[in-house]
Amino acid sequence: MRTLAGMVMLLVVATAHAQKYEGLAATPQMGWNSWNKFACEISEQLIRDTADAMVKNGMRDAGYTYLNIDDCWHGQRDADGNIQADPVRFPSGIKALADYVHARGLKLGLYSDAGARTCGGRPGSRGHEYQDARTYAAWGVDYLKYDWCETAGLKSEGAYTTMRDALRAAGRPILFSICEWGDTKPWDWAKEVGHSWRTTGDITACWDCELSHGSWSSFGVLKIMDKTAALRKYAGPGHWNDMDMLEVGNGLTPDEERAHFSIWAMMASPLISGNDLRSMTPATLKILTNRDVIGINQDRLGVQALRRMAQGDLEMWIKPLAGGDWGVLFLNRGERTVDYHHDWQKYPLADDLSKHEADLKKTTLRWTDLWQGRGGDTSKPLDVKLAPHSAMMLRLKAP
Ligand code: GLA
Repeated sequence: MRTLAGMVMLLVVATAHAQKYEGLAATPQMGWNSWNKFACEISEQLIRDTADAMVKNGMRDAGYTYLNIDDCWHGQRDADGNIQADPVRFPSGIKALADYVHARGLKLGLYSDAGARTCGGRPGSRGHEYQDARTYAAWGVDYLKYDWCETAGLKSEGAYTTMRDALRAAGRPILFSICEWGDTKPWDWAKEVGHSWRTTGDITACWDCELSHGSWSSFGVLKIMDKTAALRKYAGPGHWNDMDMLEVGNGLTPDEERAHFSIWAMMASPLISGNDLRSMTPATLKILTNRDVIGINQDRLGVQALRRMAQGDLEMWIKPLAGGDWGVLFLNRGERTVDYHHDWQKYPLADDLSKHEADLKKTTLRWTDLWQGRGGDTSKPLDVKLAPHSAMMLRLKAP
């Protein structure tokens, strides 16, 4: 009897402690999200067209798997409290859209909020967590971005844990993307709760600005990079620092776009494009589908880059990669051209946190420039000529 009672206890304890779904973000998630470009101006036609574009333009095959509908897809709850899609914007419903997206080898993401209303004023999940999770699972949803508006009186860790448990109980593996803007230090508590957490307020398409909206601000590329730099020890396979959706294709200069994409890749941030995929320029597509740069982001070691050197506006970032390779980024933050000779031997590639090291006095590594295609090795100084707001990104190969 005692053994039976013990087994029952064990079972109770085991089921009471739900877990997030493991294995969904071994490398940072990649995809597209509607918010940066379209805000609330979304529809099922836009989502279908975007799915078709991702297949046709090679983004799916380059690794962009998730097609995420952000805020404003919602209609009202029905008499039983079930959330429904906006009948005008999504007349065929989310299930039909998920089927459409899955048939094209993509996955579907949805957005909700821990509060009673989303940031766009649509119904949030507060008090409906288990019901909503079951609905998403039944629709075939694969990804949930969960926002933090209208949450007065809620504790973030508890609120996000409730939704994690609800997703688990619903029985479908759904990637859980935490979006509380870094307000309550999710890096301290979210590793077991979600697959990524936003580190800052919203991104906006500028290099280094901060735009005030009264009670909150949005941030440019460098502001988000600097805020996230200090958080590198919290990131790793299955739990990433999310620097927000990309602004590539939304108004930055070509140099800024390459630098922005390179930084997000180096920092092992999720790569979620946020532009209009139906009408982007070939130049923007080329940036988003640079497989070498994506390869740095998707490296299986999953180490976020380290700022190795900073001299005025010039910075050097390094990222240890599987098999002894390294990603190296030279960044010009400033308004003037940088002309610099980099002595490899002066800067050993060393990362105390991940315990990776390459002494370039003893070893010579070959490098490839991931944007320009040229190559060389570390036995000779590297010429780093950088236009304002630009970056050079290299992969160093282990011998
Ligand atoms: C918040 C989030 C954004 C976006 C909007 C939608 O601001 O941080 O990424 O989801 O809400 O309203």
